[in-house]
Amino acid sequence: MQKKLVAANIGMKFGMSHIEGALQYGAEIGAICDSDAENLRFAGERYSIPPQRWHTDYRDILNDDAIDIVTVAVPDQLHKQLSCDLLRAGKNVLCEKPLALTREDLMAIINAADASAGKFMVGQICRFTPAFEKAKELIDAGTLGEIYFAESEYAHDYMDLVDTWRADPLRHGVIGGGCHAVDLLRWLVGDPQEVFAYGTHKLLPGVAYDDATVAVMKFGDNVMGKVFVSTGCKRDYTMRTVLYGTKGTLICDNTSPTMTLFTTDETGHTQPAETVAVEVNNHNAAREFAVFADAVLNDKPVATDAREGARTVAVCLAIIESSQTGKPVAPDYNF
Ligand SMILES: NC(=O)c1ccc[n+]([C@@H]2O[C@H](COP(=O)([O-])OP(=O)(O)OC[C@H]3O[C@@H](n4cnc5c(N)ncnc54)[C@H](O)[C@@H]3O)[C@@H](O)[C@H]2O)c1
Repeated sequence: MQKKLVAANIGMKFGMSHIEGALQYGAEIGAICDSDAENLRFAGERYSIPPQRWHTDYRDILNDDAIDIVTVAVPDQLHKQLSCDLLRAGKNVLCEKPLALTREDLMAIINAADASAGKFMVGQICRFTPAFEKAKELIDAGTLGEIYFAESEYAHDYMDLVDTWRADPLRHGVIGGGCHAVDLLRWLVGDPQEVFAYGTHKLLPGVAYDDATVAVMKFGDNVMGKVFVSTGCKRDYTMRTVLYGTKGTLICDNTSPTMTLFTTDETGHTQPAETVAVEVNNHNAAREFAVFADAVLNDKPVATDAREGARTVAVCLAIIESSQTGKPVAPDYNF
C-alpha cells in the first residue's frame, strides 16, 4: 500500500481549490500558508486544519520533510520566487498557471526545476476539464478526422478584479486568462508556428493592457487556429471551443453540460448533430492533484512540466507582441 501523501497549500483564495483537490485525492493537509492572516484563518477553520499547521511565511515549509507536495496559488508575479525557493528545497511543486509573466522568470523556473530533486507541474487545469478531455479523446480516436481549424476563447468578466495584481501591465489578459485557451489549442492541435493579433480596449479603464484580443495562428501541415480573449466581456464565463476536422466537427465549452458533435457517413456527408452529455467541472483540481501525485509517487514524467508551461506563455507573449506591432510573430520556443 502506498503511503498517505502529505500536501502543503500556499495562497488561500483560489488555492482553497487545491486543498479540496488534495482532500478528494485522500492526502493529508500538513500545512497551509497565506501572508494574509485573515485569509489563512478562514481557510484553516473551513477545512478544520489545526492552527499549528497555519503559516504566514512560506519559508516555514521549506525544511519540513513531512511534506510531499506543495501547491502554489499566489499572484502570478510571485510564481517564480516561490517555485524556485521550493524547488531548491527539493519539494515537489504544483504551481498555478500562467507559469510566469516574463521570459526571464520562465527560464528561472525551468532552471530551478532542472536542478531540483523535486518534480514540477504547472496547473494548466483545462487539460482536466471533462469536455476538453472528451475532445482530446475524439481527436486521438480519429472521430473528427484531421483537424484543419481550431478555435478557443477565454471570455471572463474581470470588472471586479482590476484593482488587484491583475491590473499590472505585465499580467496582460492574454497571459493571465488567455493562457487557458492557448494551452488548450497547443494540447489539442500542437504548437503554432506564427500568430497575428489585433487588440482593443473598451471595457476595463483601470488596466493598462487591451481587454480584448483576437489572434489567428498558423500551425504546421496547413492547420489554422484562432484564440479570442476578452477580460471585460458582458456575459457568463466561457471557453467555447470549436474543432473543425475533415470527418467531423465538435463544439464544446467548459461551462456547458452538453457538447455538439457532427460526424460524417461513409460518403462524407454530415450526419444530424449529436448531443453529447458531459460533466461540468471547469476547475477539476482533484484530477489535477491526482495526476501530479501519481507522477511523484511513481516517478513518472509530468506532461505540463516547466518547459511545457513556458511554451504556452511563449505563444501568449507572441500574441501580445503581434497586437502591439501589427506584425506576425513566431513564438520563441527556445527554452
Ligand atoms: N486555474 C484557474 O482557472 C485559476 C483561477 C483563478 C486563479 N488562478 C491562479 O491562482 C493564483 C492565485 O489567484 P487568486 O485568484 O487566488 O488570487 P487572490 O489575489 O484572490 O489570492 C491570492 C492569495 O495569495 C496570498 N498571498 C500573496 N502573496 C503571498 C505570499 N508571498 N505568500 C503566501 N500567500 C500569499 C494572498 O494573501 C491571497 O490570499 C494566480 O496565479 C491565478 O492566476 C487560476
